[in-house]
Amino acid sequence: MLRIGILTSGGDCQALNATMRAIVRTVLNESKEPAEFYGFLDGYRGLMYGHYRKLDWTDVSGLLTVGGTILGTSRTPFKYLDQPDEHGLNKVEAMKSTYRRLKLDYLCVLGGNGSLKTANRLNEEGLKVIGLPKTIDNDTWGTDMTFGFPSAIDIATKAIDDIKTTASSHGRVFVIEIMGHKVGWIPLYAGVAGGADVILIPEIPYEMDKVVKAIEQREKRGGRFAIVVVAEGAITKEEAALPKKEYKARVAQRTDPSVAYALAREIEARTGRETRVAIPGHTQRGGAPDAEDRIFASQCGAVAGHAIVEGDSGFLVAKVDGKMTRVPLADIAGKLKYVDPESDLVREARELGISFGDE
Ligand code: F6P
Repeated sequence: MLRIGILTSGGDCQALNATMRAIVRTVLNESKEPAEFYGFLDGYRGLMYGHYRKLDWTDVSGLLTVGGTILGTSRTPFKYLDQPDEHGLNKVEAMKSTYRRLKLDYLCVLGGNGSLKTANRLNEEGLKVIGLPKTIDNDTWGTDMTFGFPSAIDIATKAIDDIKTTASSHGRVFVIEIMGHKVGWIPLYAGVAGGADVILIPEIPYEMDKVVKAIEQREKRGGRFAIVVVAEGAITKEEAALPKKEYKARVAQRTDPSVAYALAREIEARTGRETRVAIPGHTQRGGAPDAEDRIFASQCGAVAGHAIVEGDSGFLVAKVDGKMTRVPLADIAGKLKYVDPESDLVREARELGISFGDE
C-alpha cells in the first residue's frame, strides 16, 4: 500500500485542486499497488495537528475546473517554524510525527516560496517530500512557470481592459494596482497584455518625473486617457537607495492605503488630470483556472504522481525551457525568481513605448 500525504500551503490560487486531481489520478493509474491519499487541512497546520481527510478518485473527480483548494490553506511563516506553537508544541517534530503515525511514504506540498522552504526542511529531516510550484506571483526559483500565474494574468488583464472603456469615456488617468509585493511578473505580463502606458514593478525602481512625462507624452500623442499599472511593491529610485531599515521606517509612515493611492495623488497634483485608482486585489487569485493553468497543473500532478510510482522524491516539479523536469528542493529553497530588467519582454515593452518610469 502506498500512502501519500498532500497539502496546499500559503496564498491560494486557481489551479490547486486541478493539481491534486492530477496527482491522485496519475498514482491510481500507474501504481501496481493500491494507494491511499491523506489531504491535510489548512496547509502545514493539518500536518502539525493531524487534521486530514482521505481523498480518492471520486473526491478529485470534477476538480479540474474548480478554483481555491478543497483542503483549505494557511500561511505558516518559515521564520517561526522553530518557535513552538501557543501550546509549546515543536512544529517540525509534530509534522514528522503525523507523517510517521500515518505511515506515509510521500508528502506532496503544493506551495510557493515559504512553503517550499519548509518542504525542503522536512525533506532534510528525512521525510520524502515533493514540491509543486504554486503561486500567482510566478516567483518560484528553478521553474519558468508556476500554476496560478496564467489565470492571474488573465484576470489582471481583464481588469485593465474593463477600466479602459470607462477611462476613455471620462478622459481620466487610472492607476491599477496589481499583485506582486516583491516581484512584478503579473503587472509586467498583464500590463503588456492590457496595453498599459506605464508599468511600475519592484525590480525597476521609478522616478515620479518620468511617470508624469510618460502620461503627458501620451496626451500629446492624442491619448484621451492613460493607464498606469503598478505592482503592490513598486518603489521609487530614492526608496531603493535607502538602507533597508530606513526604507522600512518610511513604509511604516505611509498614510495612503496602498502604493496606488499615493501615486494617483501625485499624478493628479502634477498633471492636473483627473486620476482614479482601481484594485482587482484577491480576484486575481479567485475563480476557475484558465486553460493554460489546467494543462500545467495537470502536467505538474502527473510528474509528481509518476515520480511517486518510481520512488523518487526531494525535488520541485518544474518547467524549464518548455520541458517538465525535477529540480532538487535544496537548490531552490529560499530563492526568489525576479523579473530581469534586461529581459526580452521588458525591452520589447520599452520598444512599444511603454514606460517603466525609469527613463
Ligand atoms: O503570494 C500571493 C499573493 O497574492 C501576493 O501576490 C500578494 O501580495 C499576497 O499574496 C496577498 O496576501 P494575502 O492573501 O495574505 O492578503
